Amino acid sequence: MQDITDAGFMSIIASYGPPDFFAAQYFRIHCQYCFDSHILDAIFSRPGGKRVVAQFIGEDEGYIRDACLALSETGNIDMLDLNIGCPAPKIYKKNVGGGLLRERGKIASILKVMRQNWRGCLSAKMRLGFDSADGFLDTFKTIIDSGVDYITVHGRTVRQLYRGGADIRAIAEAAEISPVPVVANGDIFTAEKAMEILKNTKCSGVMIGRHAVRNPWIFRQINQLKAGEKVFEPTLADVRGYVDKLYGNIKSLNSNIRHKDSRLKKFLNFVAVGVDPEGRFLSHMRRAQGIDQLLKVCDAHLLGSNADKRFNCGGYKTLVARPNHEN
Ligand SMILES: Cc1cc2nc3c(=O)[nH]c(=O)nc-3n(C[C@H](O)[C@H](O)[C@H](O)COP(=O)(O)O)c2cc1C
Repeated sequence: MQDITDAGFMSIIASYGPPDFFAAQYFRIHCQYCFDSHILDAIFSRPGGKRVVAQFIGEDEGYIRDACLALSETGNIDMLDLNIGCPAPKIYKKNVGGGLLRERGKIASILKVMRQNWRGCLSAKMRLGFDSADGFLDTFKTIIDSGVDYITVHGRTVRQLYRGGADIRAIAEAAEISPVPVVANGDIFTAEKAMEILKNTKCSGVMIGRHAVRNPWIFRQINQLKAGEKVFEPTLADVRGYVDKLYGNIKSLNSNIRHKDSRLKKFLNFVAVGVDPEGRFLSHMRRAQGIDQLLKVCDAHLLGSNADKRFNCGGYKTLVARPNHEN
């Protein structure tokens, strides 16, 4: 996830119970592409011993071919994904990310080049369509026929951004006919919802984005449900511990992060919707000025008499906190 899944953040998630694998921020592949060192570091970091998938966003087969070969030479990277879903207008207008969904033939030719020049595991992450989901299964089949090893589907169109619910039924239909594993994505709020999808559809896995930022225990909870064990229920004091880890990571980043409080708020926006149903923490933390005041707000809402209260792992649905950068 752009501006989220750096090495430090993934290692925090791993400390609470890692997913089977992580996904790094994407590399933009164009005429002046270079592999950003912080993204490479994040991939090489193998948080909790787990692999990190590299992702390309681009549309030029020539540069993508070169980038596949160059990435192979870095060694130690064995999973590569093509972004066919990013809905940010500044991205899709360049005909990359979600913009590719308007041109099925282009998707096929890019993936063909990737398949020919990348020996490791190849995957694609798509949305249901650009304006509508009408041609979803055709695009899905095009991607499968290009030789991917698995495919992740976010159950929304590009135009929807993050509005409306993710259509898990459409993903399930695709999984029914797919010869390769399908990973469902979008609005998987809780471990229970993840289990429901794994049990009731032919999807082989789930990808969890925003809801893992909000609830870093979600992967551990899924594994506990799978094993029939009691599911860990975090308290607000546990959440305060998570805030400390997030702040520790922010502090360790290089000094060009001038506003540490706004970076921490970016993460707390997700977390806050599970703290109290009235949104008091959300509103107070947003108004806090400077890191000291922000940490005091966290103490007041998450410690003391609140420390033993349950964190709502599913989040309070009436509270909405949109991320700064939606991809
Ligand atoms: C801040 C942010 C950054 C994201 N960055 C990426 C990205 O780099 N590559 C990608 O394939 N998806 C990216 N996504 C989309 C997520 O992977 C995921 O598809 C989407 O958030 C829906 O899943 P969720 O409901 O579990 O969050 C990003 C989403 C957000 C909110």
